[in-house]
Amino acid sequence: MIQIAVLGYGTVGSGVVEVIDINHVGINKKAGDDIEIKYVLDLRDFPRNPVNKKLVHDFEIIINDPDVKIIVETIGGVNPAYEFTKRALLEGKSVCTSNKELVAKHGLELLEIAKVKDTNYLFEASCGGGIPIIRPLNSSLTADEIDEITGILNGTTNYILSKMASDGSSFDKVLKEAQEMGYAERNPEADVEGYDACRKIAILSSLAFGYHVDFEDIYTEGIEKITATDIEYAKAIGTRIKLLSTSRKIENGFYAMVSPVMIDANNPMFSVQGMFNAIFIHGNVLGDVIFYGSGAGKFPTASAVVADVVDCAKHLHRNIRMNWSSKKLALMDISQVTNRFFVRVAGSRAEKFKKIEAVFGKVEPVSISSLTEEFAFITEEIEEAEYKERAEKIEGIISMIRARF
Ligand code: HSE
Repeated sequence: MIQIAVLGYGTVGSGVVEVIDINHVGINKKAGDDIEIKYVLDLRDFPRNPVNKKLVHDFEIIINDPDVKIIVETIGGVNPAYEFTKRALLEGKSVCTSNKELVAKHGLELLEIAKVKDTNYLFEASCGGGIPIIRPLNSSLTADEIDEITGILNGTTNYILSKMASDGSSFDKVLKEAQEMGYAERNPEADVEGYDACRKIAILSSLAFGYHVDFEDIYTEGIEKITATDIEYAKAIGTRIKLLSTSRKIENGFYAMVSPVMIDANNPMFSVQGMFNAIFIHGNVLGDVIFYGSGAGKFPTASAVVADVVDCAKHLHRNIRMNWSSKKLALMDISQVTNRFFVRVAGSRAEKFKKIEAVFGKVEPVSISSLTEEFAFITEEIEEAEYKERAEKIEGIISMIRARF
């Protein structure tokens, strides 16, 4: 029997307990041993819940119990998750987590400890919820030099953008629904402002490129400025607005960015709706591959965590090598990155369009008959720096969204 402990009985932690309970026969068979939850750590009590029998409030009980071989960390956030994880790994226990914040910030160090101690730090659930992506990157795509990852990596923002587009609901109403369904973080800023997606693309890029990608170096914009009018424009030209996370190797180096992007139906991310996530990867010999599935929520995330528990059980005292080196990847400034730009301008198209063409060259005009006080245009593909310089010459720019079509 392999005894485990679950730290944190929140959305994901309680999901892990339920998944192990519901599917224990198959899980034990695949692990090659019986997995038993010995402790659940939480500050709260759950008097009418059978979990109460396993509940402890003191981490010392878990860390000092030599029978506990695997720890599931679903506390979230950096503290105290960092200290608990580090101590567990130093004790030779394996740790599985869904905690993207901790993996992005301290993953490199924690993986190093796991390697030295011949144990494992696994984090399949940290990116893409229930979608297998960390394991494929680590074991299936090893023949390739990966040169691009583009993904919809945040379920909450994708749910919000999809719902705003499909039924015209307000941002606040849709965000509240996402929180009620357990997709959004307690503090939704990390989702809405793009930081959650930024941490996830940093983790995936570190594993794909084999260098350390610091999430703090990644250019990040969220969806907080996207309005119902932007969505109306997007619809009018047959496009959708998605929060895309991209990291790419181009001629001059690597860049990474998270931002809302207008895409059309030719883009595989176009049909990724609601809380679903998708990750596109390009490898130099493989070509294109896409991973798609449930990107957030209690059970999809718990499914990935429990799969890691099974993997840890199969590799007790044997480290699974990860391609995440301590050498930091210097990311390019995004000023040299090229995009098309969808730009809204206040005023009359008849008066301003000549000037816009003089500054930007050939552009595609967009007008919506109900909007008489403004219009929009889409540029050709130009560098970010070039866009910025030219946009300063145009009066009345309301907003800009990158466009890839
Ligand atoms: N808040 C996250 C999301 C949860 O919406 O994608 C999964 O990491």
